[in-house]
Amino acid sequence: MPASDYEHILVEFPAEGVGLVRLNRPRAFNALNGPLMDELMDALAAMDRDDTIGCMVITGNEKAFAAGADIGEMAQATPVEMERMDFIGRWERLRAMRKPIIAAVSGYALGGGCELALACDMIVASETAVFGQPEINLGVIPGAGGTQRLARTIGKALTMEMVLNDRRLSAAEAAQFGLVNRVASVEDYLNQAIELATSIAARAPVAVRSAKAAVNMAFETPLAAGLAYERERFYALFATADQKEGMTAFLEKRKPAWSGR
Ligand code: CAA
Repeated sequence: MPASDYEHILVEFPAEGVGLVRLNRPRAFNALNGPLMDELMDALAAMDRDDTIGCMVITGNEKAFAAGADIGEMAQATPVEMERMDFIGRWERLRAMRKPIIAAVSGYALGGGCELALACDMIVASETAVFGQPEINLGVIPGAGGTQRLARTIGKALTMEMVLNDRRLSAAEAAQFGLVNRVASVEDYLNQAIELATSIAARAPVAVRSAKAAVNMAFETPLAAGLAYERERFYALFATADQKEGMTAFLEKRKPAWSGR
């Protein structure tokens, strides 16, 4: 679908090598309904294929990154209807993106909104960001990775509190517990996310994609398998022109010019 046809997101290219998706259902605090998620995945997949893009940013607005999955869409659903809608399955596409994705979060990141941020590779938060998994208040549990990704990121004790008892984290707490990369003012958080994305997008593209895959493998495998995977990726990069360029440029004391080959 052409970017101009999207109804629930806005697509922008704010800096060299950077693709930005704004979630755009402000009246529903960017609740993540099916059409929005499909558009988001389509837009990200197009950027993932685009050689001119090196890093993506997902953001909401100042008040809300996203207040979760759309409750109206699922309130009366049966398990089979949820499965037929592919309610959570479509989120799997996010995991398949090869390029880094940064969540720029201000205001509410609740339920699926928190899970969407967690599914990104890095998070830049505004001082007003609030992270929470309030699904317990609706008689359910997180369904898009909250229990798993939070436990792996901030540990069991705090995850239990968040998931069982709707404990919410402020931006400062999220930084303290290692959930976010940095916290900035509401005026500046998106700029900082775009700056971070621009810096990553200027680096050797094949190595950046390999680095993302290797770090993510740390969450999938025992250490020995992860180390083996990392080593294979490291050796494989010696087949790229960028490895030769990077190391030659270092020895010649000049800046490398990456070709992405
Ligand atoms: N789904 C659908 N609509 C939502 C929504 C959601 N998750 N969150 C907010 N909205 C809608 C409200 O229904 C309301 O719509 P109307 O104006 O048409 O009535 C509008 O957004 C404004 O919301 P409020 O009137 O509630 O505004 P508030 O300022 O009092 O509160 C809020 C804001 C704290 C974000 C509150 O709306 C809220 O708690 N939202 C729900 C958060 C939640 O429970 N998220 C988890 C969803 S389940 C999930 O995500 C499952 C999963 O793991 C994938």
